[in-house]
Amino acid sequence: MLWIMKFSGFFSAAMIMIVLSPSLQSFPPAEAIRSSNLQFSGQIATAGNKITRLPFKKASVFVNSDKCRSKSKRFSVCDESLIHIAITLDVEYLRGSIAAVHSILQHSVCPENIFFHFLVSESNLETLVSSTFPKLNFKLYFFNPDLVRTLISSSVRSALEQPLNYARNYLADLLPRCVSRIIYLDSDLVLVDDVSKLWITSLGTKTIGAPEYCHANFTNYFTAKFWQNKRYSRTFSGRSPCYFNTGVMVIDLVKWRRVGYTKRIEKWMEIQKSERIYELGSLPPYLLVFGGRVAPIEHRWNQHGLGGDNVKGSCRDLHPGPVSLLHWSGSGKPWIRLDSKRACPLDSLWAPYDLYGYST
Ligand SMILES: *[C@@H]1O[C@H](CO)[C@@H](O)[C@H](O)[C@H]1NC(C)=O
Repeated sequence: MLWIMKFSGFFSAAMIMIVLSPSLQSFPPAEAIRSSNLQFSGQIATAGNKITRLPFKKASVFVNSDKCRSKSKRFSVCDESLIHIAITLDVEYLRGSIAAVHSILQHSVCPENIFFHFLVSESNLETLVSSTFPKLNFKLYFFNPDLVRTLISSSVRSALEQPLNYARNYLADLLPRCVSRIIYLDSDLVLVDDVSKLWITSLGTKTIGAPEYCHANFTNYFTAKFWQNKRYSRTFSGRSPCYFNTGVMVIDLVKWRRVGYTKRIEKWMEIQKSERIYELGSLPPYLLVFGGRVAPIEHRWNQHGLGGDNVKGSCRDLHPGPVSLLHWSGSGKPWIRLDSKRACPLDSLWAPYDLYGYST
């Protein structure tokens, strides 16, 4: 029950039990991630557990405008006109994930054309999602934390060690084969622009797209041990890698599956277990595998770092330029700072999307 202790205090333990406990027993067995029984939506719907109060207010129903080609149609996940978005529903970051979804729907001209793929590992959250967002197109996927637990090494901040942080590595396996492109988003961000503009990003011949930060000193993302070992460091030879943040990525799942990038990421994680080649959590393997091979995306789509420094936390300002997405990466989270009355100025931009609050 470690997750309860780590739970950062936005609802009481009693509330957690009411909302989540019916589902704790309903997970498929350990090897679920590789099996075909990944979507357990049906199971949940028939669970029949009565939930009388939910921690989130119901959002308005977001409908397509007249400009959208399809009007009020019920989509199946394989429909070609859909925009696919993957987000984790980590109990600890649930409030952030819900706000992220809310922000996406609010700024979308065709919100009904969006399909959400939620990655979960601890509990059944289907009722919570469908009660909070009526008519949302979504599916839940069980991500087995045991799959990565042995691969995770300690990092500078314990939140970076949460197994669900690594679920993004397995999207190509988890999602149905008909889903050929996915936007992966972290839980500590909000969009203030229409996600369809990000969706149509051209990836060229690349497998992933993300905003790159070439002024950041790339050397510092890896340890001296890494750079001194020629066998490791020559992985970058012939490449000009730049730092990028893995909290906002557009991924070509067809290419990912074809090349088998999941295995390449896992290989670096295994090396890290014994050699300590980096300090951060799930990010460095992406730099190792994709650095210098990333389709650049405009920086407006990841105004990151608003959570402040990884260790101390502190208030950060926006990077210059336009803003389509605000990302509270770093140690501070806006919902925690707002609740504790120690908000940073930009946290007020997150607040309008917050749906937390008891409803009957
Ligand atoms: C990057 O950082 C490394 C180690 O901290 C340093 O030796 C190197 O000179 C830096 N490079 C640049 C271009 O600042």
